[in-house]
Amino acid sequence: HYLNLQEIHDTLISVAHEAGRMMLQANPTDLDKGTKLNCNGLAVDIVTETDKAVETLVSSRLTAAYPTFAFVGEETYKPGVQITERPTFIVDPIDGTTNFVHGFPSACISLGLAVGRTPAIGVVYNPWRDELYTAIRGKGAFLTVGANWGVEDGKGRRNKLPLSKNPIPLGTLDTSLVSIEWGSQRDGVNYEVKTEVFKKLCAVKENGGAMVHSLRSMGSAALNICAVAAGQLDVYWEGGCWAWDVCAGWCILSEAGGIMASGNPGNWEPELDSRKYLAVRGAPSGQKELIEEFWGLKRAETGP
Ligand code: IPD
Repeated sequence: HYLNLQEIHDTLISVAHEAGRMMLQANPTDLDKGTKLNCNGLAVDIVTETDKAVETLVSSRLTAAYPTFAFVGEETYKPGVQITERPTFIVDPIDGTTNFVHGFPSACISLGLAVGRTPAIGVVYNPWRDELYTAIRGKGAFLTVGANWGVEDGKGRRNKLPLSKNPIPLGTLDTSLVSIEWGSQRDGVNYEVKTEVFKKLCAVKENGGAMVHSLRSMGSAALNICAVAAGQLDVYWEGGCWAWDVCAGWCILSEAGGIMASGNPGNWEPELDSRKYLAVRGAPSGQKELIEEFWGLKRAETGP
C-alpha cells in the first residue's frame, strides 16, 4: 500500500531533534544498571541510562504515529528477531555511546526505515554539532547544519551530498582516507582479523600493504557512513555492526552515489542484517576497483 515517505521522513527529523535535546541535557556517565566501565575483559560495550531513555522516547513517538510498522531498536532487540518485508523502523538511540560517555562530540541518533528489507529513509543527527544527514530513497541525500540550534533562519544550511565538487579520483587504496573501527569485540578471530586488516591497510607496499593515506575512526558507524556519503572519507570498513548501526546511513550513502558492499570478498549485495559492511563513496568511476582491492587484502571470508 501507499507509504508517504516524505511525511515519515519529516516525522523522523522532528523525533531526532527532540532526542538530540535529550542527549545534550543528559548526564552521560549515568550508566545503565548492570553496565560497568571496564566491561568484562573481552568486549567494550557500554550502555547508559540515556541510550535506554532515548529509545523509549523514539519508540513511543514512532509506534504512536505508525502503529502498523515494526520497530527494531538496539536497546530492546531480542536475539533471533528477524527484519521482515514490513515497513520497519531500525533505530540506534545513541550510536557512538563510548564517545558520548567520554564527552567526545561524535555521536548521533540513527533512525532508519526499511521497506522490503531495503533502507528507504535515513535520518542521522549529531546534536553536538547540530549536523543532520537525511535521505529518502530516490530523492537524494542532504546535510543540514544548524537547523535545531536556530542558526540563520532556523532552517539551517542545507547541502546536497556529496559535498565536494572536485574530489580526489577514486580507484586505489593508496590515495584513500579509510575509516575503520575496533568495535566492541576484541577477542579471538575478531582480534586477529581486525589487526591483520588494519596492518595491511597501512603497511608500505614492499611489505604487502596498501599504504592508504591514513586511518580514521569517528566512533559511530552511522557517522562514518555519513562521512563517506559526504565524500570526506573514501571507504569505511567494520565487521560486526548491526542493522541499527547501518540502516539509516545506508540510505544516505546510496542516495549520495556511494555503494554498500560486503566486507567479505565477492558479495556485492549484503543483506541489511548480514553484519558485514564496506561503504565506498560516490565517484564517476573506480568504486568497483577499490572494493576488489580491499577484498584482495582482506581475503579471509570468515571472522568479522
Ligand atoms: C557502536 C559504534 C562504534 C562501532 C560499534 C557500534 P553503539 O555503536 O557505532 O563506532 O565500532 O560496532 O556497536 O554501541 O555506540 O550504539
